[in-house]
Amino acid sequence: MAFPQNRMRRLRRTENLRRMVRETRLDVSDLIAPLFVVTGTGVRQEISSMPGVAQMSIDLVVEECRQLEQLGIPAVILFGIPDEKDAEGSDTWSEDGIIQRAVRAIKEACRDLMVITDVCFCEYTDHGHCGVVATHRDGSGELDNDATLPNLARQVVSHARAGADMVAPSCMIDGMIDAIRQALDEEDFADVPIMSYAAKYASGYYGPFREAAQSAPEFGDRRGYQMDPANADEALLEAALDVEEGADIIMVKPAVNYLDVLWRIKREFGLPTAAYHVSGEFSMIKAAAQNGWLDEKRCAVETTTAIKRAGADLILTYFAKDLAGWLA
Ligand code: PBG
Ligand code: ZN
Repeated sequence: MAFPQNRMRRLRRTENLRRMVRETRLDVSDLIAPLFVVTGTGVRQEISSMPGVAQMSIDLVVEECRQLEQLGIPAVILFGIPDEKDAEGSDTWSEDGIIQRAVRAIKEACRDLMVITDVCFCEYTDHGHCGVVATHRDGSGELDNDATLPNLARQVVSHARAGADMVAPSCMIDGMIDAIRQALDEEDFADVPIMSYAAKYASGYYGPFREAAQSAPEFGDRRGYQMDPANADEALLEAALDVEEGADIIMVKPAVNYLDVLWRIKREFGLPTAAYHVSGEFSMIKAAAQNGWLDEKRCAVETTTAIKRAGADLILTYFAKDLAGWLA
């Protein structure tokens, strides 16, 4: 069949026609805004490597959530930075933990805003790793997978008791979804969904986040438990395991360098799929825009639209609030 000449040009003729034939529509309802919560009141600590993003105390986080809700953003994901860190990250399951207090305050103020909690340990452990660390005889340490599982169960149940609407385990512990699902079901939280960071790459693009969350590892790195950027089939296997264990939503992280993975995961499982447009991806656009090298709005919209086109139903992005304004 011959391709009709000039067809594409005809379809681009007017803005109305362009809108009608557009395949992907970024919508405010796709967006999840990440927030960093610290203790105290009236605290707003800007993160230098993420212009416009700040650590906020609970009172200011609640204020921010009110605005996000008004803008039509359906959900936030919370990261907590506790005052006290310890070897196991016990603040994560404390009734008075930073996340538990934040969730209660937000749910009280914004009934309809969905509150998702990031479930990990690296912001809460003194060594900065994503769970319990086993120390070898030679002094070197390593993440202890199985010793971390019961702590994960305690953490999610505690988040759910505080009122979390969804939990998002990001630690890449084997068997974590199974352990979390079981713990939630046993405690009467069978209706709390799990969004799993199923394909989480060992990426350089988390750099600014580690300043924001004060979670850089004290020794070693996370390559032992995060995925090799060179691998894509492996991401499908990881996702398949999480789906089998009961994940409701699968996440790919970071987003832009892994659009092929996102596409394959969406096609393979047909489940709601999330992509995390991470800190470094955000900061690159910000920095270039501040230099006058890129048009911030145009690039942020283009990038998040590309993430959606590649298969993301949900997009976690530090541009969420700006996008809500731009898309309105
Ligand atoms: C921690 C976690 C990280 C991010 C989300 N959850 C950092 C990491 O894995 O080191 C990164 C998010 C970002 O860079 O914006 N478990
Ligand atoms: Zn972690």
